[in-house]
Amino acid sequence: MTKIKKGIILSGGSGTRMYPMTSALSKQFLPIFDKPMIYYPLTTLMESGINDILVICNRDDLTLFNKLLGSGNQWGINISYEVQENPNGIAEAFIIGEKFIQNDNVALILGDNIIYGSSVKKTLSSLASNHHGASIFGYEVSDPERYGVAGFDEKGLLESIEEKPKNPKSNFAITGLYFYESEVIDVAKGLKPSKRGELEITDINNYFLQKKKLNFNKFDLGSAWLDAGTSSSLLSASEFISTLQERQGILIGSPELAALENKWINEDDIKSFFGLKIKSNYTNQIL
Ligand code: TTP
Repeated sequence: MTKIKKGIILSGGSGTRMYPMTSALSKQFLPIFDKPMIYYPLTTLMESGINDILVICNRDDLTLFNKLLGSGNQWGINISYEVQENPNGIAEAFIIGEKFIQNDNVALILGDNIIYGSSVKKTLSSLASNHHGASIFGYEVSDPERYGVAGFDEKGLLESIEEKPKNPKSNFAITGLYFYESEVIDVAKGLKPSKRGELEITDINNYFLQKKKLNFNKFDLGSAWLDAGTSSSLLSASEFISTLQERQGILIGSPELAALENKWINEDDIKSFFGLKIKSNYTNQIL
């Protein structure tokens, strides 16, 4: 059992469902209310205690991601980049990320996934602080057929995961956040593309399930899991974040605040990074 310090944000994809917004740049740059979409999964990893991060993106977006996130130094973390030449599937992240992962545990989060909730931070950081095998996270939804779906035996234990089933065995969708030991690299390399031509993350999870090394965790109903993959879910996510932030006077999805909380940086570091020139609603809430 070891701590998870490394995380991958898979931030490529074709974004066809959001065309034409995604014809010139990836959806992960689009705003969720007051910040770019990728800030949310980045913050989730940081809140889990992860400070070594690999962003995997399309070749055309590499310069822009570098401009947006840089080396991570401003947040006291390390950010590196790799290109996914084609959207060959989520599981390809571990093949592209092999050199980054080496023999360590690794988290993977999808660049369009927003996870929020008071219990989430605690659950993730305690799991990440002492991890073995593989961990996935389920969330109850009304339209499970759009996702990987969990099936349970009569004791309520996870017994199957099916990718986009026509007849889902439960309402528990598998969210786009996963923790694995480094064996995941070899598992990914051994995969064959599915009928839709992708290396499927569900096949990786089923491998660990069969080996009895898969932990299934439920995010409670007080938490929120949103994927901002369509224009209407993008708008709903923006509305959700703006409502919560304005009502409660909080800032969700802020790498600065996650870094401050982890004591990876201090307030002076933030001041010198933003400088005097950058004044926005976002910076005003941090400084
Ligand atoms: P999806 O929403 O499944 O795919 P997509 O982004 O290509 O969009 P569309 O279906 O509208 O064409 O992807 C989920 C997340 O995973 C998203 O953040 C993009 C990322 N992704 C990759 O980076 N590479 C891939 O090969 C795949 C399949 C997804």
